[in-house]
Amino acid sequence: MNTVYLNGQFLPEAQALISPLDRGFTYGDGVYEVIRAYNGKPFLQDEHFGRLADCCAKMRIGAYLTPLHEVPARLLEANGLTGDALIYLQITRGTAPRSHVFPPPETHPTIFGLAWQFTPNPAWAQGMITILEPDVRWSRCDIKVTSLIPNSFSAQRAKELGAHEGLFVRDGVVQEATLSNFFAVSGGEVRTAPLSNYILPGITRAVVLDLCREHGIPFRETPVFATELHQAEEAFLTSTVYDVAPIKSVEGRALPAEHPVTDRIVSLFREVVRRECR
Ligand code: PDD
Repeated sequence: MNTVYLNGQFLPEAQALISPLDRGFTYGDGVYEVIRAYNGKPFLQDEHFGRLADCCAKMRIGAYLTPLHEVPARLLEANGLTGDALIYLQITRGTAPRSHVFPPPETHPTIFGLAWQFTPNPAWAQGMITILEPDVRWSRCDIKVTSLIPNSFSAQRAKELGAHEGLFVRDGVVQEATLSNFFAVSGGEVRTAPLSNYILPGITRAVVLDLCREHGIPFRETPVFATELHQAEEAFLTSTVYDVAPIKSVEGRALPAEHPVTDRIVSLFREVVRRECR
């Protein structure tokens, strides 16, 4: 049985019990992180913990994160995960009588961690099939909250239509996707939505922008409008789960089969992974 982490203890999953009055259950009141491991080594862990700290602060959840830094490696070890894996960490506002206002400040957050073996879908590297979705999410998409109903609906609709991802369009702008950030390439320039309350500040997104900066690949953080997509030479998605994955089609319209800029970024990204998780 899986060994999981709950509130300071490593224990078998079946013994990890949480109250039904946990705010994560009654209000979806929590934040989370997903960290990738390659060769049994967590990738960009500090960056993920940095974002987790920011999200806790924005949510006014007072969790002490320092002791959690050992959790990913310990979960990998306890579960014999020596190859590719994903680590999930979730922090909720804790258990309290149901009330819309926050529980008393002495309430302990609930902290849960899980790791599992992960094999990327080989179809992703061949090109993502995407659909456009109206972005009906709330206006704080910069916080990685566990309330993921619109993302889940869009992911499900994409699946039912034979697609891999839904691209969220708000005010005509392709903001991001259900679990990834969105990039387009036009005129040789890499473009992605600027950081705002409408997108998650993706860790993979930041690495890709750093790589562009470092290797002289022209880029701009500027809105990409859905109406511009037919002119895009290339488009790709970035996520802890996908790494960097080319987009093959949007709403049934194929993008050019050759995507040299995306290919270059994919190989630069792989070099970073090799360096960090040898
Ligand atoms: N999601 N945008 C959204 C809405 C996301 O949920 C994610 C990640 C990203 C990419 O962020 P990063 O590069 O830091 O993984 C962008 C995770 C993987 C998930 O929900 O499973």
